[in-house]
Amino acid sequence: MDSSSRDFKDFLNLDEFEASAKSVLSPMAYAYFSGGACDQFTLRENVSSWNNIKLWPRVLRGVSNPDLSTSIFGQSFHLPFYPAPVAMLKLAHPEGELAVRRAMNRLHLPYFASTMATTSLEDIAGESTTPSYFQLYCFKDHGLTKSLIQRAEQSGFKGLVITVDAQMLGKREADIRHRFHLPSPLKLENLDHKSNLELHASEGSGAERISAHFDASLNWKSLEAILGQTKLPWAIKGVLHPEDGVIAADMGAKAIFISNHGGRQLDCVPTAIDVLPLFAKALAGRVGIFVDGGIRRGTDIVKAILLGADGVLIGKPMVWALACGGAEGVIRMMNILEEEFRLALCLLGCSSLKNLRMEHKF
Ligand SMILES: Cc1cc2nc3c(=O)[nH]c(=O)nc-3n(C[C@H](O)[C@H](O)[C@H](O)COP(=O)(O)O)c2cc1C
Repeated sequence: MDSSSRDFKDFLNLDEFEASAKSVLSPMAYAYFSGGACDQFTLRENVSSWNNIKLWPRVLRGVSNPDLSTSIFGQSFHLPFYPAPVAMLKLAHPEGELAVRRAMNRLHLPYFASTMATTSLEDIAGESTTPSYFQLYCFKDHGLTKSLIQRAEQSGFKGLVITVDAQMLGKREADIRHRFHLPSPLKLENLDHKSNLELHASEGSGAERISAHFDASLNWKSLEAILGQTKLPWAIKGVLHPEDGVIAADMGAKAIFISNHGGRQLDCVPTAIDVLPLFAKALAGRVGIFVDGGIRRGTDIVKAILLGADGVLIGKPMVWALACGGAEGVIRMMNILEEEFRLALCLLGCSSLKNLRMEHKF
């Protein structure tokens, strides 16, 4: 029996969620969630690059219950992997963002809410029993950017994650072919009616039309001015060059999210694992380092941490799990990763994340 007709509760690994999700999503939604930019070289390499690293176990260390905890924005969590901010989750499941938010409440983990959510940031905040962080896109309309920050502050978000790799949308051919749009009555609940009109069915990709509102002239100086409007701790997401990581750290970032946006922006760029050691060297413990892109196994998380990350984000597998089973699907997906991650640490002979050192890399 293939995984498309099985109950997600029987799935043994993250890849099994995708075939099942594909069978319940519309071809347009599946294309939107799964697609990458141009030839999708980076999309594929994100997954395969983790296989270039081998782990090197030590024996007889007596590890049976490793400490898996880490921290972000000064807050400690019992696991180092969380769902990534992903747009338009109601396209995957009717409960969309709230299903993932509730799953994270039950797992005692944080939630990263996308600007481009199909649930308002106030509704997400109202559902939060663990910290929610707001992923911010910066708009040409500076008043809109400012009001998003204020709304996030007022509703109780605990930090901002500013995404800086998508001021123009990557060339996503699958979205253009499928004439990507948000089927009514779904809306980008953080944006106004006029912006939402851009997402109506038309020629080409609605995602491209809406992202034309992002501020393509954003630079370090204008970002600093935006950050001057908030007291929230902030992180930057979508950085691939360590010198940009250093600039952000000098400006006061609490964390750097190394990411190529799941291969959806510029094709033919490094993967997170390619550049992570350079960031670890350049930043030397000054800020938190998080990575994402192609993480599908507990051993991938181990590799990220032993090369210098404090934690990782999971994008597409979260969407597939949501499509398969709402909050329960996401919890199952996170449980699978936790079991794999815990087992990998035990078999490596490593008792905690801080003990995960280069001696465990072959
Ligand atoms: C469908 C989709 C929508 C996304 N939307 C956002 C977004 O709104 N904001 C953002 O910062 N990143 C967004 N991302 C990027 C993810 O946060 C993350 O960087 C990426 O998905 C990680 O790669 P993975 O999907 O291979 O795990 C999106 C990714 C996908 C697949």
